[in-house]
Amino acid sequence: MEPNQTPVKKQRILSGIQPTGTPTLGNYIGAMRNWKLLEDEYECLYMVADLHTITVRQEPAKFRQNAMQMLGLLLASGLDPKKSTLFFQSHVHQHAELAWLLNCYTYMGEMNRMTQFKDKSAKHADNINCGLFTYPVLMAGDILLYQANLVPVGKDQMQHLEICRDIAQRVNGVYGNVFTVPEGYYSKVGARVMSLQEPTRKMSKSEAEDSFISVLDTPDVIRRKYRRAVTDSEACIRFDVENQPGVSNLLSIICALTSEDMEKLVASFEGKGYGDLKAAVTDVTIETLAPIQAEFTRVMKDKKYMEEVYREGAQRAGYLAERTLQKFMKKIGYVAK
Ligand code: TRP
Repeated sequence: MEPNQTPVKKQRILSGIQPTGTPTLGNYIGAMRNWKLLEDEYECLYMVADLHTITVRQEPAKFRQNAMQMLGLLLASGLDPKKSTLFFQSHVHQHAELAWLLNCYTYMGEMNRMTQFKDKSAKHADNINCGLFTYPVLMAGDILLYQANLVPVGKDQMQHLEICRDIAQRVNGVYGNVFTVPEGYYSKVGARVMSLQEPTRKMSKSEAEDSFISVLDTPDVIRRKYRRAVTDSEACIRFDVENQPGVSNLLSIICALTSEDMEKLVASFEGKGYGDLKAAVTDVTIETLAPIQAEFTRVMKDKKYMEEVYREGAQRAGYLAERTLQKFMKKIGYVAK
């Protein structure tokens, strides 16, 4: 840096991913991969959102394993814990505390409008718990605790981010400047990856095995799943989501993984068949995932390193979180400790 030049304060980013099982290729392209791209330009905090996960009942041993696996995958996808703060949400107790306070600044009517609650309560009709209902408040707290400027999220979380902004503005309206009002960060790259079996629906690990690629699938499994992927009978390779959703999905996966231009890619398939397209998408997928899988296997064996990462992460996150929590509690009128 030049002398006399004050360093520009980096904008802060917070995001979270739930440890609900092995992520899909869609999660990788849509979220995990982009996190790494932000690491130099922003001050990033990334958490494994394990408090959110118990809104759906979890088997304890499996849950613990999924949480560690998610941290392992974040490291394997290239995040550098020296640059980004990586932590488990449950290790920073301020998340649960702020969620309680914010619950008292959020209206039933607002939560009632959340479409994800409606979807999830239809799906888990036997366990429509209060946590599922107030989940967006917990998420608002996640973001506001760190005074985050930007929040990378997918489309499905936009409504939750809107509520977070409403809550922040409401609190600021009552008490003055308590929280930074965050903006969504929607990445320019990162196609929406669709199901291989029903390409008009999003790729999801809660659907049939053959409809998604998991980031830990072996080359053989990847090959098989793409071989069975739905195409159509048009017998030509075009990017036309409306009329050829299956073919277009495979094309966008290639584009997303190679950063190739769609028009050029389509041109390169001129005169070729669906077999060629499937071979190409299989190759790039295997090539992308192989180094991540190798690093994942390596890092998961290094328990000491993993521990160091999440402990240091929680310490740094906890420091920032405590500052915001104390500020807010003082404004509300709580007696200082
Ligand atoms: N609710 C998000 C999801 O299910 C995960 C999440 C929790 C999150 N807290 C967050 C994302 C804070 C962004 C910011 O995908």
